Amino acid sequence: MENLEEKIVQADSLETLEKVRVELFGKKGFIATEFAKMKEVPGPKKKAYAEGLNKRKASLQRSFDARFKLLKAQEVERLLKREAIDVSLYGSQGQKGALHPVMETMDKIIDYFVALNFAVEQGPMVEDDFHNFEALNLPKYHPARDMQDTFYFNDASLLRTHTSPVQIRTMMERKPPIRMIAPGTVFRRDYDLTHTPMFHQVEGLVVDAKDKVSFANLKSILTDFLQYMFGEVEVRFRPSFFPFTEPSAEVDISCIFCEGEGCRVCSHTGWLEVLGCGIVDPNVFKSVGYEDVSGYAFGLGVERFAMLMHKIPDLRSLFEGDIRLLEQFR
Ligand code: DAH
Repeated sequence: MENLEEKIVQADSLETLEKVRVELFGKKGFIATEFAKMKEVPGPKKKAYAEGLNKRKASLQRSFDARFKLLKAQEVERLLKREAIDVSLYGSQGQKGALHPVMETMDKIIDYFVALNFAVEQGPMVEDDFHNFEALNLPKYHPARDMQDTFYFNDASLLRTHTSPVQIRTMMERKPPIRMIAPGTVFRRDYDLTHTPMFHQVEGLVVDAKDKVSFANLKSILTDFLQYMFGEVEVRFRPSFFPFTEPSAEVDISCIFCEGEGCRVCSHTGWLEVLGCGIVDPNVFKSVGYEDVSGYAFGLGVERFAMLMHKIPDLRSLFEGDIRLLEQFR
């Protein structure tokens, strides 16, 4: 009888202990066999026999449970040691990413116009001659096409040189009134300090009944927008030319580097040109079948804004992916 307790204590793994359990408490184990002997025990002694056996069983069960607890704890300990690297834990020195300054600037621009109820429209980067030029009052062989050095696939399709074609697509899809911006990627054959072959623009267009749109509206919204982007700057509108607007203007802000004193960045003029705008040319409305409406439009380069806001001297550095530049915008 003694060695039963010992068997339990000597079991050095959960597996051996399980074998001992079967030996003791299993269907054909010690306890079951002993109970089976009851029928041979003479009547008067049956009760005492049963009582003794039940005690024995309980005591064995206690020893077994204690051993099981111990072995289980040891096993958990061993597992914990073996799996000391918890791959489900979060790392502690993970690096935070950040928006690229161009995207951050784009978001800031979009936020402004969305707050004023402008819809955000998109169009394809691979455009056709009609949407990119023709419908915007740039007929074939028009000299102004040279302003936009174009990547052509063939005579019919090209990489859009501006986001203005989204104006055309939106007007052809919808009826006036229209109040939209079109942020997007554009392409031109250009590469120097201030030009990259791929860059981003935001186009804006408002079309409504003739008495509801004026140059004064355009002026006030763009002045407010530029002060939201650049802070307390002066804003001036300078007559200019774009084929899709008449009259047209280029918009300058007072130089944020020298506050209008004149410096290298503003070519000693005290002003920085930041966008183009104007009253939509009637020929543009004609090409999309609009009648009896008026509208204003504007277009800006997002990289130029980002460069000025962050004082980045070389546009190309925005696209070289140098982590040291990007880390400054975290
Ligand atoms: N599309 C012009 C460009 O790429 C920018 C522009 C100027 C857009 C004046 C306009 C506008 O809508 O009215 O240079």
